[in-house]
Amino acid sequence: MWQKICEATILSLTLEFPIRIVYRNLRLVAILLVSICFVGMPAQTPRQNSLLLGTAWYPEQWPEERWDADLSLMEQAHIHVVRVGEFAWSSMEPAEGVFRFEWLDQAIALAAKHHIAVVLGTPTAAPPAWLTTKYPETLRVDEDGKRAEHGNRQQFSFSDPVYRRFAAQIARKMAEHFGHNPDLLGWQLDNELAAPSFDANAKQQFHRWLQKKYGSIAELNRRWTTAYWSQTYDNFDEIPVHSKGENPALLLDWKRFVTDTWISYLQVQIDAIRPNILPAQFITTNTMHWNEGFDHYLLHKHLDIAAWDDYFPDGHLDPVLNAAEHDLVRGYKQRNFWLMETQPAFVNWGSVNSPLPRGVTREMAWQAVGHGADAVLYWQWRSALNGQEQYHGTMLGADGLPVPVYQEIEEVGTEFDRIGNVFSSSTPEAQVAILQSYDSRWAIDFQRHSQKFDYVTQITDVYKALQPLAQTIDIVSPDADLTRYKVVFAPALNVLSDATAKKLVTYCSDGGHLVLGPRSGMKDFDDALQTERQPGPLAAALGGHVDQYYALGKPVPVDEIDTSEAHGMATVWAESLVPTASDATVVLRYGKTADGWVDHQAAGISRHVGKGSMTYVGATLDSELMSSFVARILDEAGIAPILPGLPSNVELMQRVKPSGSRVWILINHGVAPEHIGLQRELKDMLTGMAGRFIDLPAHGVAVYSLEGVQ
Ligand code: GLA
Ligand code: GLA
Repeated sequence: MWQKICEATILSLTLEFPIRIVYRNLRLVAILLVSICFVGMPAQTPRQNSLLLGTAWYPEQWPEERWDADLSLMEQAHIHVVRVGEFAWSSMEPAEGVFRFEWLDQAIALAAKHHIAVVLGTPTAAPPAWLTTKYPETLRVDEDGKRAEHGNRQQFSFSDPVYRRFAAQIARKMAEHFGHNPDLLGWQLDNELAAPSFDANAKQQFHRWLQKKYGSIAELNRRWTTAYWSQTYDNFDEIPVHSKGENPALLLDWKRFVTDTWISYLQVQIDAIRPNILPAQFITTNTMHWNEGFDHYLLHKHLDIAAWDDYFPDGHLDPVLNAAEHDLVRGYKQRNFWLMETQPAFVNWGSVNSPLPRGVTREMAWQAVGHGADAVLYWQWRSALNGQEQYHGTMLGADGLPVPVYQEIEEVGTEFDRIGNVFSSSTPEAQVAILQSYDSRWAIDFQRHSQKFDYVTQITDVYKALQPLAQTIDIVSPDADLTRYKVVFAPALNVLSDATAKKLVTYCSDGGHLVLGPRSGMKDFDDALQTERQPGPLAAALGGHVDQYYALGKPVPVDEIDTSEAHGMATVWAESLVPTASDATVVLRYGKTADGWVDHQAAGISRHVGKGSMTYVGATLDSELMSSFVARILDEAGIAPILPGLPSNVELMQRVKPSGSRVWILINHGVAPEHIGLQRELKDMLTGMAGRFIDLPAHGVAVYSLEGVQ
């Protein structure tokens, strides 16, 4: 993708800006000379870099005389991209219809002098006071009917037509003004889309959305089973608007409406920007962790790349969970992404905002790259003197001088500049995927049945068992193209439409191995219970079904039925299964339990389906049993680790180029050194040390190019 961006940019530059190219090349020669003198290494212009280091910079908060000093310090840290503008509406449009972009022109031009390119944020997460004062209907209303006020951010209503008009206008003005500036790499729309609004207009739009979907109120009544508790509606306007406590069908449709509304909210800005910018400039937005506020797969269909904000508020990196989150984001578009924000050591919004230990800021940067990030940006450059985030980690202190973590980030920048190009056009390639379904996640969260049943944990439990064995994993939507995967895990695929069920059967028939987890196939697309027992429309292909489900108060024993004879416990959920086809085999079985309901019944069954297989696991397995079970599935599918025998703290990440050549990143996430066998002679690009083994220090990183290596 990045390569494409670079090529497209260079092409458009060649066509449209020959003079700038000459200028840029002159500049490149100058940088080259300076770099050769000082570091003996050719420097890169931002567009030549396959890995970009960056930071969020807020020039509007500082006097212009200071900018050059800031940019010099950035350049010294090998920062090649700044994200600017995303909260600067009152500086860009100080009064209604009065636009001031000169300061931003200056800031971008000055950044370019320091070989720093720009991602421009539309400022719609922070509307100015004049707007919300004159047009109070643009303010968000929470579920309890309270209207937001000025003074914080995200105080706007995502569905309000007046707000959208202003948002489109500022986006268009910005695009018209900056869209042909070759120093601009791309656009970030808004910032961390979060809270929906429950204002009168939003409610009316929800009613119209339902009307369009169901056509008649009778059809809605039927599919929502509104005879239940006299919920039957006479017309769409009677339908309450809530995000909790209502009929689950209503709640699921509200989530889908919220998704569609965020999409149209962004689309208004995309329509304003796209026609006015260079084709090379990307459009994205920055998302948050496992945020379930909207369906991220659907939203990202409208964006060019995915980008996210990665934080560990307590300063303790959980490397496996962090890996899963990167893979989640890579799955939004099934391609590389940007890490748009991450912490320089610490944040300000946790309960105890401890710093990452020394070395972990660098460790996180390389881990992001290993999972497909093409850029890593720190939030933020320098503490604003006032405002709500005075204590957040930064690269510079309030005095404008580097704080200790600056040096660690500078080290990352030096490394990105030195070896980043080895990652050009490369991406992780997985043979195994985990399906993540927002519909299923929402449906379970509406009625968890056991508070211990957490959808994300269901995914990460599988991920944890898979990671050491598969080493590259995709987390994708059930709607994604699954043909590239040998094995697909679908934990808690609770809401299962007939179309998805059909697709999954085809996947198995064609040779894929599908492993369904507990609670799968229980609901239809309307969140109604399937009339066929779980897994509903997949029960026939599976040759078996769930007899009954149980939320567990006490753990129940589970045995794996194969040569390994592994034993373990189910602690959260247990479903008793019944094989119905003679060729369905029991692969997991419950032992003797206290309450007797699942005693000695099947906990997992498996069946060959066409050239592949379908397996259903009805119990939440503990980590040991999960590992043993996952190992067996991967073994059957012929998936082996890329580099076997790694210590448990060591992660191998592989990025593959179209030519098939590979780049490895090895990270020791532990707190002690590790001796690691490489199975061939390799040279670490970071240290230049070669050998069949490497001693990786705590938080240590090694990078290997396997070009031409078998
Ligand atoms: C109460 C109510 C019933 C039903 C049950 C569920 O007894 O009267 O309508 O909700 O709880 O346990
Ligand atoms: C989020 C926001 C940023 C900033 C950081 C602080 O990611 O997007 O503006 O508030 O959190 O951690």
